[in-house]
Amino acid sequence: MKIVIVGSGYVGLVTGACFSEVGIDVTCVDIDRNKIDNLNKGIIPIYEPGLEDMITRNMKKGRLSFTTNIAEALKDSEVLFISVGTPPDEDGSADLKYVLAVARDCGKHMNDYLLVVTKSTVPVGTSIKVKQALQEELDKRNIDIEFDVASNPEFLKEGAAIDDFLKPDRIVVGIESERAEDLMKSLYKPFTLNGHPVIFMDIISAEMTKYAANSMLATKISFINDIANLCEIVGADINKVRKGIGSDSRIGHKFLYAGIGYGGSCFPKDVQALIKTASEFNYELRVLKAVEAVNKDQKLILFNKITNYFKGAIKGKTIALWGLSFKPQTDDMREAPSLDVVKNLLEAGAIVKAYDPIAINEAKHHFGDTILYYEDQYETLIDADCLAILTEWPEFKIPNFKIVRKLLNTPAIFDGRNIYDREEMKENGFDYFCIGIDTSKNNVKS
Ligand SMILES: NC(=O)c1ccc[n+]([C@@H]2O[C@H](COP(=O)([O-])OP(=O)(O)OC[C@H]3O[C@@H](n4cnc5c(N)ncnc54)[C@H](O)[C@@H]3O)[C@@H](O)[C@H]2O)c1
Repeated sequence: MKIVIVGSGYVGLVTGACFSEVGIDVTCVDIDRNKIDNLNKGIIPIYEPGLEDMITRNMKKGRLSFTTNIAEALKDSEVLFISVGTPPDEDGSADLKYVLAVARDCGKHMNDYLLVVTKSTVPVGTSIKVKQALQEELDKRNIDIEFDVASNPEFLKEGAAIDDFLKPDRIVVGIESERAEDLMKSLYKPFTLNGHPVIFMDIISAEMTKYAANSMLATKISFINDIANLCEIVGADINKVRKGIGSDSRIGHKFLYAGIGYGGSCFPKDVQALIKTASEFNYELRVLKAVEAVNKDQKLILFNKITNYFKGAIKGKTIALWGLSFKPQTDDMREAPSLDVVKNLLEAGAIVKAYDPIAINEAKHHFGDTILYYEDQYETLIDADCLAILTEWPEFKIPNFKIVRKLLNTPAIFDGRNIYDREEMKENGFDYFCIGIDTSKNNVKS
């Protein structure tokens, strides 16, 4: 089978690579000529474990190619996936201009039956707009070609995207014709042989499923952060509370780690978009509004702790940051808590020195020369007044604390991801602050 993936970003590249890996002939399309030229030279625009190898292997086998020419890509293709971005519009709703541009491109260039599958995260009702946009172009050409639309939201996690695609918990497919169902069944057969289910449903339910899933995960994070803040006030330990509640099988352990708020390219915009969709139907999603509000405050929590520690005198202080990406195993910094932390520190007059194993280049796009970048995590500590952990990269988990202690001007660590043990920090002579545990009594200064 021959398929087309339009939009060669995170989702498009992973989808294209994984489908080609199981023998499907895939053409990835993008409007970004530079990106396509690089991909054709084997230069992958994002960091995602395993992706580069898989792309190179399948390009060599002739099953995966890259182009800016959608008309060419459509020849002999039966299925086209739309995986372009759906960034938030000014009012928080998902901006569909890229998705609808692809739908129009299909109408302009298709010559045979086509199943158009929306993989981008889109609000309920988008498939109807996709159908209309495509049909309008066919009408302009005065031509009658059969097509179907389907919804196939993507649930991959950046940093584990290949594994998630190859071994999905589930595949959700919204369809409205038997032909579309058969095509999707045969495309996903290689990924479902181990019992991972394809859940077929109507298109609106599939579109809603994606937003509901991300909103549920964001809710878990804001919930545990809210509880963590209360733990700190009343003297409870969020790590113990997390274990206590997570062992209830109805609750589970995942997504219950207290921290400095959720970020990334999906949760913030998807929560916002669902709130907007609800308001368009005169419904108020009160829980999600609270989820957003808690998250906004949570992104400030580490900055506030640092400010309190230095009794408001941040101006001229040098702060070392470990981790800038919104989570480990990715260089993605979209909506990362580090953006808020850095902004606040700079506004308060601090000097910021930062290290991240992968995201330094990406960080330069965001911060330019307003902060200092290092290639070694310990170098950030020279002459720094404290260390703040913003991303839980594995290499930060057991650092040489003797060196850390020796290099820092003040032995203060602000752990935004709760990766250290407070007793160990005390033994090593640090003033230690984390999320959801009142560590002040342990600290040297108190
Ligand atoms: N990144 C994730 O982890 C993730 C996970 C699940 C779902 N999603 C959803 O998938 C969609 C894509 O996300 P992403 O992170 O891959 O985005 P991205 O920004 O990494 O990539 C989008 C790509 O689409 C291209 N593009 C835009 N308009 C185009 C057009 N008309 N024709 C061809 N190419 C075009 C852009 O140049 C870009 O390369 C979004 O709706 C997102 O919410 C993302």
